[in-house]
Amino acid sequence: MGLDIPLAHSPNMQSGNSIDTTKLEDLLISVVESGIDQVPPDYIKLPHDRVSRSLNSEGPQEQIPVIDLAMMEDGGPGKRQVLAEIVRACEDWGCFHMINHGVPAAVMDAALDAIKGFFALPAAEREEYRQTKNAGKGCGRSYTGQGVVRDWNNLLILTDFSGEEDRKSDRGSFYDLVLAKPPGAQEALENYGQSVNILIERSFSLVSEALGQTPEFLTRKHTSRFGTVTTHYPPCPQPDLVMGLRPHEDGGIFTLIHLDEVPGLEVLKDERWVPVTPVAHSFVFMIGDLLQIISNDRFKSVTHRVVAGPIARTVMGNFAVTSNDSVIQPAAEFCSDLKPPAFRPVVFLDYKKKLVGTGTHSKRVEAYRLGQ
Ligand SMILES: [Fe+2]
Repeated sequence: MGLDIPLAHSPNMQSGNSIDTTKLEDLLISVVESGIDQVPPDYIKLPHDRVSRSLNSEGPQEQIPVIDLAMMEDGGPGKRQVLAEIVRACEDWGCFHMINHGVPAAVMDAALDAIKGFFALPAAEREEYRQTKNAGKGCGRSYTGQGVVRDWNNLLILTDFSGEEDRKSDRGSFYDLVLAKPPGAQEALENYGQSVNILIERSFSLVSEALGQTPEFLTRKHTSRFGTVTTHYPPCPQPDLVMGLRPHEDGGIFTLIHLDEVPGLEVLKDERWVPVTPVAHSFVFMIGDLLQIISNDRFKSVTHRVVAGPIARTVMGNFAVTSNDSVIQPAAEFCSDLKPPAFRPVVFLDYKKKLVGTGTHSKRVEAYRLGQ
C-alpha cells in the first residue's frame, strides 16, 4: 500500500519530483480537523476513478483466505497443508490473512496505538515531523503525480526507502524516523520493527517453499530488507467522491499489512473489488511486483485500493524489498522451453524510479514483459 506507498507514492521514490518545503501545504488531517462538510476540490476524483458500489454488490461476497501458521508447528502434515494453502491463496488471490504468525498481539497493539497517537497529536506537534524535501521519512501525503487528483490520506513514513541501503545496524534504531511523541511511541515501534523483522524473514522462507524451493531460495538470490510506512485515512464527509488510496500493486517482493478494525482495503479478483474484512491481529500478506517477476508469473502481484469512509482508519504497511543493486529477473527454476522468461531483468533501484504516480491505473510490471 509507499512503494505503495507504498513503495509507490512516496515523493522521494520519484525521480525529479519532490515536495517544496518552502510552501508546505496543510496536512489533510489538519484540514479535516478544522471542520469541513465538503471535500476540497483537490481530492475530488473524476467519476470513473471513484468507488463503484455496484461492483461490490453483485453476487456472494467472497473473503480472502485466512491461513493459520500455528498449524506448521508439527513440521509434517501441518506444514505441508499450510504451504498448500499459501500456494492456493497466492494463485487465486495474491493475498491472504496470516494469523498466529509469532508477532505478539500486545506488540502489534502498542505500535498501532503509537501511530494513532501520533495522528491525534495537536497539529503543531505533528508539524515537527513533517517530511522534508531531502528525507524520505516523516509525515506527509502520498504522491499521486503532478496534476493528478490526490488520495484521501496522510502518511507517517518510518523507513526511508530512498536511502542507499539498510543502515539499521549503524544507528542503533530499527527505523529511520525517531518518534518522541506520543510518549512511549519510539519504544513501541522499536519492539514492533524487531518482531516484524522475524516474521518477514519467516515469510521469505514460506514463499520460497510455496514455490517448491528451499527455504533459503529467495534470500540467497536477493538480500532481504524491510521497512514500514504507516497511513492514516481521516474521516471523510463525502467518501463517494474520493479514493483513500487509488488502485495499485506494491512494488516490493511482498507486503505484510497490519490493519486496524475499520474496513476500507479492497483487492481486485476476477474483475471485481472484494472488501477485506479485518481479522484481529492478522497481517495481510500481499504479493508484490518483484515476486511476480522472480516467479515468472506464477504468483502475480495483487491490485488493491482503499476506499475512504466516515470513520478514521490507520494502517501499518511492512514492505519486504531487497537491496538497490539487486537484479530482478525470472529465476531459472521457473523457466523452461515451455515457459520461457516472461520479463526482462531490471535493477531494483531502476524499478523504484518507475513507481511514479499517474491518474490511471496500469500494472507497472507489464512494462518489463518481454515481447511487448
Ligand atoms: Fe499498497
